[in-house]
Amino acid sequence: MSISPTDVLASELSAIANSLAVRAGVLISEARQSGAGLVDTKSTATDMVTEYDRASERLIVDAIRAARPGDAIIGEEGTADTGTSGVSWLIDPIDGTTNFLFGLPGWAVSIAAADAAGTVAAAVYVPSAQEMFTAIRGAGAIIEDRFGRRPLRASSATDPAGALVATGFGYDPIRRTEQATRVARLIHAVRDIRRLGAASVDLCHTAAGRVDAYFEEGLGPWDLAAGELIAREAGCRSGDFAGGPARPAEVLVAAPGLFDALASLVRNAS
Ligand code: IPD
Ligand code: CA
Repeated sequence: MSISPTDVLASELSAIANSLAVRAGVLISEARQSGAGLVDTKSTATDMVTEYDRASERLIVDAIRAARPGDAIIGEEGTADTGTSGVSWLIDPIDGTTNFLFGLPGWAVSIAAADAAGTVAAAVYVPSAQEMFTAIRGAGAIIEDRFGRRPLRASSATDPAGALVATGFGYDPIRRTEQATRVARLIHAVRDIRRLGAASVDLCHTAAGRVDAYFEEGLGPWDLAAGELIAREAGCRSGDFAGGPARPAEVLVAAPGLFDALASLVRNAS
């Protein structure tokens, strides 16, 4: 079987994403031992950015610029490089900044690379668990941790009543209240709800079958890109609440046999 140029490119992008997610994650988890560093606010009084969000983005962006100078790069903390190569990167240097700030586990470094056909390589590294989640489009999704390396598989759930469902809330208090109202309207119809605090990790937990589904509205593109490819490659179905393509504004990722029933519950609760 011959190896196509697309496969070669995907492998190169995947290797870069994986190694930078680990390098940045190790750097900032070590730095976190002596506190969360300098803190500013962004869109609202509770939307925080620390000096380590910025340091993580700097490390990742400098390395991508050096390795692939023609690529476009978008980072949550302000990087907006246009490119010429047809490859673009979406970086969340710390997804789950509130967890990071409060010293809770479960924050991640999330890196996705896209070509003309969409996300092609993804890496989400969770330092507190030393777990690395990766995917290459068309080649499956993998978890690597202290127990080794194995494929990720979505759960086989089909019944919302038995489903453990992750969700998240935005930083805007009005939006957060609407989101909580929706959760209050559907929580009786599922097993339970989890709000763990990092969208990329929620997506990876869905990929691993640790939760049966995840939904949220109002994400940034950097929250979604890597984890969504990982979830799809693990066999999850991904979309908006009406079954159209997933988008940062509205995403539901679920075990394939659960998606339609859960989408209908989420729509009816809206
Ligand atoms: C946030 C987290 C959170 C989600 C928010 C995101 P950040 O990202 O992923 O779980 O509920 O919508 O904005 O700000 O920590 O990178
Ligand atoms: Ca972030």
